[in-house]
Amino acid sequence: MDPLRRQAYLQALGIPAFTRRESGQAESAVVEEVGAAAAAGAAEELAQHPGRPVADSGGAVELAGLDWLSLQERASECRACGLHEGRTQAVFSAGNPQADLMIIGEAPGADEDRLGEPFVGRAGQLLTAMLRAIGLMREQVCITNVVKCRPPGNRNPHLEEIAACRGFLQRQIALVEPRLILALGAVSAHALLDSDEPVGRLRRRTHAYGESAIPLRVSYHPAYLLRRPAEKAKAWEDLQQVAGLLG
Ligand code: URA
Repeated sequence: MDPLRRQAYLQALGIPAFTRRESGQAESAVVEEVGAAAAAGAAEELAQHPGRPVADSGGAVELAGLDWLSLQERASECRACGLHEGRTQAVFSAGNPQADLMIIGEAPGADEDRLGEPFVGRAGQLLTAMLRAIGLMREQVCITNVVKCRPPGNRNPHLEEIAACRGFLQRQIALVEPRLILALGAVSAHALLDSDEPVGRLRRRTHAYGESAIPLRVSYHPAYLLRRPAEKAKAWEDLQQVAGLLG
């Protein structure tokens, strides 16, 4: 990307110019190999929580055979947890379902619920700007959430809601077959890695998701970055790592 353009993006994000040099150093130092133990742990996680749509979201076997559009349709009709009661619509995905990079957030907020697209509110605008800063348009990546319906009052999704939606996310990942997953925030990282470690300890490592051990990186949720702008520099480092892994 043109350095001046990149600089303009960084300024828009509120990330000081010197951060780029620091993060450039970190970039070469930080990348870790996908460990066999991590791969085994992720596979075990998948086995413990089989694609388990419940109630009338359809059975795991049915979801396993669905293509992207059928899966989206099934999500739009899903009543497997209480979140369907308050939703305007299920928010399935944005971007390219054949992308190399799959970005997974937490749950739709009010703007997403209204517009039917993930990450379109303030946090989404920050995410879009950060992607632009590493040379990616929203349309080039696949964006979704752990939970497809908006939790009331923007609370975190409950564990049973995450479990009820798990089959949709697993099938989405299976269909996209991304080269890399980026989990944004603790809810996403914990759901995908079956971990309860803080984001600060999960980032800067390459984890492995699922039986095919898809490389997975963790970073801060953009909504958190809006509340804690000082952490944006770390998120910028994370995104540079992501760009490096994508090549
Ligand atoms: N936060 C999320 O985690 N996802 C969205 O789609 C919007 C805000």
